[in-house]
Amino acid sequence: MAWDPQTYLKYSGERARPAADLLARVPVVAPRVAVDLGCGAGNITRLLAERWPAATIVGVDGSEAMLASARAAGIRARFERADIADFRPDVAPDVIYSNAALHWLGDHAALFPRLVRVLAPGGALAVQMPRNHHRPLQSILSAMVDEWGLAPRLVGVAGRSEILAPEAYYAVLMPHVAALDIWEVDYLHVLAGDNPAFEWAKGTSLRPVLAVLDAADQGRFLDTYAARTKDAYPRDGQGRTLFPFRRTFIVATARG
Ligand SMILES: C[S@@+](CC[C@H](N)C(=O)[O-])C[C@H]1O[C@@H](n2cnc3c(N)ncnc32)[C@H](O)[C@@H]1O
Repeated sequence: MAWDPQTYLKYSGERARPAADLLARVPVVAPRVAVDLGCGAGNITRLLAERWPAATIVGVDGSEAMLASARAAGIRARFERADIADFRPDVAPDVIYSNAALHWLGDHAALFPRLVRVLAPGGALAVQMPRNHHRPLQSILSAMVDEWGLAPRLVGVAGRSEILAPEAYYAVLMPHVAALDIWEVDYLHVLAGDNPAFEWAKGTSLRPVLAVLDAADQGRFLDTYAARTKDAYPRDGQGRTLFPFRRTFIVATARG
């Protein structure tokens, strides 16, 4: 299930907006160590390095292709390959920041408190994840997974589990932290192109499903998904497509 930096970065402008919105809410003024978990191609890690010029910045990702892009981008950060599920830092970070990555991991009720526990005293865990299971982008995909009988092959596959409701993150995290800020934003992106919803999904949510299909079935699956998303996200007279997209934000501050 390889990540492709080119495809993912196609909508880097739209994807950077929530990343910046999250970063603006991190309450740590002068961290010694800030980690970008699931840093991808490093374009958001760069924002961390700019906000905290005196900090050691570490980008962590599981994809060698993404890390290669990040390392080539001239960002003032160290990039390390690791599975977030096994993330155990040698030095307790003052900030663990994660934009659009933790929804690829399961068991958030265990993962989130564990990440808070590895923070330095008074440190912050800042997370943003998409939550669009009610939107055509995801509901068309879920329906097709059922129609194609793919569900048994996707059990336990990364990125296939629904993230929790905001209230559930509150219940999971509040016993472990000094302060907690949780909010959601529904961005109304206005996208150009013939079928931008399909292009968007190709960079992310389609990947785990395509990974269990052979080349011929991938083509058929993509054709059907493209036709349905084009109907669900029509273009207006100026060639623009409205693309509403909901994201959940969490900033948890560790006890001092
Ligand atoms: C949607 S991209 C987001 C990249 C970056 N944070 C950004 O906002 O541009 C998700 C990233 O999470 C990484 N990722 C997903 N699951 C992971 C895991 N279990 N361990 C490490 N990295 C993971 C992927 O390799 C990918 O680069």
